[in-house]
Amino acid sequence: MNSTDAADPYEAITSAKRAYAVGSSPEAMRAFYDTWSTTYDDDFGEAGGYIYRAQVANVYLSQANSDDVPIADVGCGTGLVGLALASSGRPVDGFDVSLGMLAKAGDKHVYRELIEADLTIGPKQPSAYGAVVSSGTFTVGHLGPDALAKALHLGRTSALCVIGINSQHYRDAGFADCVAKWTESGAISDLQVRTVPIYRDAGNPEDPADVALVLVFRLANAALLT
Ligand SMILES: C[S@@+](CC[C@H](N)C(=O)[O-])C[C@H]1O[C@@H](n2cnc3c(N)ncnc32)[C@H](O)[C@@H]1O
Repeated sequence: MNSTDAADPYEAITSAKRAYAVGSSPEAMRAFYDTWSTTYDDDFGEAGGYIYRAQVANVYLSQANSDDVPIADVGCGTGLVGLALASSGRPVDGFDVSLGMLAKAGDKHVYRELIEADLTIGPKQPSAYGAVVSSGTFTVGHLGPDALAKALHLGRTSALCVIGINSQHYRDAGFADCVAKWTESGAISDLQVRTVPIYRDAGNPEDPADVALVLVFRLANAALLT
């Protein structure tokens, strides 16, 4: 993509949808996002009217208690969620498989720590985050319910979780069954499901790929996230 393409929000979104087809392996994701990292904020974040990151940040801020910190931003990319949370002064750590995306997140100086991590594997050591948030990572062709279960292990008991999931992906990748199972088993509690647009102007509210579900819940017992 070049800067001329980025002037058209529909073109920016169409280009972004190439990401849906690159293959969900950590290696494919790393290669794709390392390349895209240099233009992502301009050609997608801005030209694409990508408001999803602020929607997730705002849901977190509207639901959080003062002790729902620190925040783990899973699949933090170039740091757009961290940027949206920055004025709150809450400590945020970012996790991502792409060093290119992490470098761009570092340039924003809004993360306490940035950690190279493959979320399909899960945390390398026990963690006790007070919140787990995410936008754009659980999307078509990207991470599914198994990776979400592993990522949630970053949170401590009663951590506030605000997880955006592309609604087409939610439908097709089996998230509904997992979330129902986790609710029933007591792995999670206080579940709310919100629907938000991903794009400001150019998204199609009738297209499930342009709409996200934001799941808001408390982590009750991570050992039951199977
Ligand atoms: C569409 S971007 C979203 C970035 C950011 N959250 C935002 O809203 O702009 C998806 C991100 O997921 C990351 N990702 C994909 N697979 C991953 C994995 N296995 N482990 C960690 N991060 C992964 C990519 O590197 C990329 O930064």
